[in-house]
Amino acid sequence: MAQVRDETGTPSEAGIGAHLLPLGAHADEEGRLVVGGVRVDDLAQEFGTPFFLYDEEHLRARCREIVAVFGRGAAFASKSFLTKAMARLAFEEGMTLDVSTGGELEVVLAAGVPGEHVILHGNNKSVAELRRAVDTGVGRIVVDSFDEIDRLDAIGELGETRLSIRVNPGVEAHTHEFIRTGQEDSKFGLSLASGEADRAIEALQDRFGDIADGAHAHIGSQILELSGFDREIEIIAPFIGRHGLREFVVGGGLGVAYLNDEFAPSLSHWAREIATACQRSGIDDRVAIGVEPGRAIVATAGMTCYRIGTIKAIAGYRTYVAVDGGMSDNPRPVLYGSGYEAFLARSVHTRRPWPVRVVGKHCESGDVIVSDGRLPEDTVVGDLLVTPVTGAYGFAMASNYNRVPRPPVIFVANGAARVVVRRESIEDLLRLEP
Ligand code: LLP
Repeated sequence: MAQVRDETGTPSEAGIGAHLLPLGAHADEEGRLVVGGVRVDDLAQEFGTPFFLYDEEHLRARCREIVAVFGRGAAFASKSFLTKAMARLAFEEGMTLDVSTGGELEVVLAAGVPGEHVILHGNNKSVAELRRAVDTGVGRIVVDSFDEIDRLDAIGELGETRLSIRVNPGVEAHTHEFIRTGQEDSKFGLSLASGEADRAIEALQDRFGDIADGAHAHIGSQILELSGFDREIEIIAPFIGRHGLREFVVGGGLGVAYLNDEFAPSLSHWAREIATACQRSGIDDRVAIGVEPGRAIVATAGMTCYRIGTIKAIAGYRTYVAVDGGMSDNPRPVLYGSGYEAFLARSVHTRRPWPVRVVGKHCESGDVIVSDGRLPEDTVVGDLLVTPVTGAYGFAMASNYNRVPRPPVIFVANGAARVVVRRESIEDLLRLEP
């Protein structure tokens, strides 16, 4: 079993590990990167750089893997990567869609996903968001506070929408503090230990009756050590029993490998662990068990392709390799100190002995994509540099900092590429200003 490692791990000198690339990626006879039957340098030629590239078959395979165990109880956490194309794909493959804001809800509905297959989350939902969810027949709202119960009460009839309580189990997941959510001191959910969760579900059941029939928890993200899930289930099981609940969603949070020497449990392994823990904890067979993975579905399916524009050697210190994107398309290294690998699209498996720092084009020193990267020694300006495993929380958290237009999102499958989000233009940057 993989251990949680320091987030600032060092990429290795070897060529890029196959487990960091999507299923449909390989190197051609000259060592060039091909994904979904399309050469990445051809894509750069056609669409310019930088761009987010996703292997559609990999996305579908991951959705199927989790649907095989949980059916529609498997919800895709859309916050990790949301475009209409992705929402449609996840729904087509049998998943429910988890949204955490009114904005995510609108994108998912615009993609054609029926409201009944959507779950609404959020620790501070507005009346407008709740009303819209009820009006569009959202299948389930996960209630996160007593204030929200008052707001739902004011809305009145909830139609087809069912309700769950977000329970805070008080479990500390082994992950970065900013993406840990299940500990007692948290803005999310209602505490089990203090009795708040019990009071909240009772209040909901008093007001809404049978439709308040679910429990939900989410202990954190990028979790590689599965014991936290066992603990979560064990702690929440009695709560489900004493309130006669019929649905329990264990949350998302399964981690992925970002670096050559990291390994993560598979979705199927995680699913088995959860099913076993639910049985062991005596959760009634009639309780529908669900999960909400985001990262584990999309992270490895995606990568970012940049062009190297400047190489600067600072004598006695290090070499900076600057690319045409940066913290606006991948803020994770800055936010969480996350490590990534980098390699050249023209030589996937070549050794990378040259220590470099890969940086972006933003006006601040913290704009680092790979702090301790390794590249082949013949790397030159003009080369295409790829960072793998950027499919989750990359495009999703992209910004316009320094008014850098956001990159397009390209899906590849069966030798064809389609642009599912086009590159932002200067007109887009100006469109909100009169
Ligand atoms: N369900 C709930 C209620 C969540 O809050 C989250 C993530 C998920 C599911 C999906 O978690 P996943 O399977 O993707 O770990 N921006 C951070 C991650 C924040 C995750 C927030 N909640 C990052 O880039 O690492």
